[in-house]
Amino acid sequence: MKVDRCICHNISFSQIKKIVEARKFSSIDELRAENICSTNCKLCDPYIREMLKTGETVFQSKRFK
Ligand code: FES
Repeated sequence: MKVDRCICHNISFSQIKKIVEARKFSSIDELRAENICSTNCKLCDPYIREMLKTGETVFQSKRFK
């Protein structure tokens, strides 16, 4: 299964990446402080952290099992 978004905030990782680049964010804490993603169930956390490291925006769900 493809994982490409924070479901709780209904925002894709590619949209989040654009925000990160425009606002020069470097951490998930900055995204949370702005209530952009990752403030509810946090299942998206490992994927967003990986996106911040590598720039990838689409993942396979098995990857972090
Ligand atoms: S999927 Fe991101 S907080 Fe739930």
